[in-house]
Amino acid sequence: MCGIIGYIGQRKTAPILINGLAKLEYRGYDSAGICVLEDQELKTIKKKGMIAELAKDKNINNLSAVLGIAHTRWATHGEPNERNAHPHFDCDGNIAIVHNGIIENHQALKKLLEKHGHKIKSDTDSEIIAHLIEKFYKDDLEEAVIQALNLIEGAFGLAALHKNENRIVVARRGSPLIIGVGDGEMFVASDIPAILEYTKRVIYLNDDELAVIEKDKYQIKKLTGENVDKEIHEIKWTVDQIAKQGYKYFMLKEIFEQPEALLNTLRGRIKENQIKISVDLDITKIKRIIIVACGTSWHSALIGKYLLELITGIKTEVDYASEFRYRQPIVDSDDLMIVISQSGETADTLAALKEAKKKGAKTLGIVNAVGSTITREVDTGIYLHAGPEIGVASTKAFTSQVLALIIFALNTKQNQGEKIDKEIIRELANIPDKISQALKQDKKIIKLADKFKDAKNFLYLGRGFNFPVALEGALKLKEISYIHAEGYPAAEIKHGPIALIDKNMPVVFIATKSNLSQKIISNMQEVKSRNGIIIALVNKGDKDIKKIADHVIEVPETLDEFSPIINVIPLQLLAYHIADLKNLNVDKPRNLAKSVTVE
Ligand code: AGP
Ligand code: GLU
Repeated sequence: MCGIIGYIGQRKTAPILINGLAKLEYRGYDSAGICVLEDQELKTIKKKGMIAELAKDKNINNLSAVLGIAHTRWATHGEPNERNAHPHFDCDGNIAIVHNGIIENHQALKKLLEKHGHKIKSDTDSEIIAHLIEKFYKDDLEEAVIQALNLIEGAFGLAALHKNENRIVVARRGSPLIIGVGDGEMFVASDIPAILEYTKRVIYLNDDELAVIEKDKYQIKKLTGENVDKEIHEIKWTVDQIAKQGYKYFMLKEIFEQPEALLNTLRGRIKENQIKISVDLDITKIKRIIIVACGTSWHSALIGKYLLELITGIKTEVDYASEFRYRQPIVDSDDLMIVISQSGETADTLAALKEAKKKGAKTLGIVNAVGSTITREVDTGIYLHAGPEIGVASTKAFTSQVLALIIFALNTKQNQGEKIDKEIIRELANIPDKISQALKQDKKIIKLADKFKDAKNFLYLGRGFNFPVALEGALKLKEISYIHAEGYPAAEIKHGPIALIDKNMPVVFIATKSNLSQKIISNMQEVKSRNGIIIALVNKGDKDIKKIADHVIEVPETLDEFSPIINVIPLQLLAYHIADLKNLNVDKPRNLAKSVTVE
């Protein structure tokens, strides 16, 4: 996601725009730009890096315009650099746009525009919007924007300027946009923090609505042309509350953002019951897959092993990146190394990647941060499109990684000449909604967290696809509540860990339906008979387990191979609420960094 702000009024717009961007940095911060309309000329400054880089530019203060738009980017298409930073322009520089979202049909539209002589200068999907508006422009920016957007498939929050028109035209579908109503001045932004210090009066645009904004008036209509009357809301929140959208911590916001994040991971990648991703890889030449990662990403890597061997039949190994790089690994040119990293900057993962490349392996990255170091090192990759993850404890990146691995495995199966059952594709599309259902257990989990917040140790047990989920649940608890927790394959406890079981040891069983359900019930009985306390994650209506467990959390049922995405949700919430009830800093746990760029 990106941050957009626009202003039209009597004050110098540049300081307002830069200040507003800074309040939107949590929405994206890999590059930023500003465009103002001064003496019928569009003047722009763009910079790679944080907003502070843009603010430092000495030309900013020379801009005396009272109308402008600005953007802080979280790239999805095209590396973060000055050329790809927004605003983007049409061929003649008469039209400027800033965009938040993903244009799914940008390649097809780009081909069409280039056939009509347009020169697309950037690698982004967004730039084609400016050229489409140019194509339809006949002295009416509003009309040209409507016609351009009718050709767009995908999500947009858009603001557009034309050098001959003293107004801002904005529109939204799938990405937020609000209008700020001032006295003799108007604002537009992706989110309230950008404009709250100037006005508390806002209008929320809905999907497929457009607004034409002038300094003392605005008009809102549907993209189909009908006028719309909108209520003006008085905002009561503080800026900090809104950046977290009312959540106490970014981690909780990101846990609840997962349905939207995974919708974006899926966006444009399922078409006519087929997986549609473009990875530059001939899978028929691959004899073995090696997945390396660290921490939470290593847990998704373990799930990746189970998925790839089950779905594609390709031998798959998993290594901690820090171990792989030093163990003199045997790697050949018919190996594929998959590196998984939210930040794309983890030193151990980057080093393992370079080691495999040196030995001739093909490489593929599953990364969230576009243009990060790892994405520039791999041969090909799949972006998560999960949006910035601010909380140190990874949540939406983990579930997006697992979803990306499922997409890659199914795409590989297609490339092996196999058809994917329609039901599997349908269930894949249902995942975001099932996450929303799992999130509804939050209140029940708060009660459990309160009951167990003083426990000194926890055990997390799972089998098959859910053994890595047990590891992830334990890591979440450890890293934000500082309670010692271990994850194990459930059957493994009889080989030692069962000695730990007593009435002070909460044991979390991931016991959703699978071909191993009966086995997991036996493991539960082993714990029960030693006075262990059982918290069981089950599918709705599972009566057998309810008779054994002390506490039950119900989650929606899905295919076993998809279940880690749903089953991890209650474990994220349990860890979060225990840490919060212990009054710990959930977003910034002691001793930890969001991206470990050192060995
Ligand atoms: C997970 O909650 C931690 N923040 C940490 O284990 C993290 O997953 C690990 O450092 C890997 O980071 P990466 O995905 O950015 O490479
Ligand atoms: N897809 C656009 C780009 O990559 C906007 C990114 C976003 O909204 O996060 O520049």
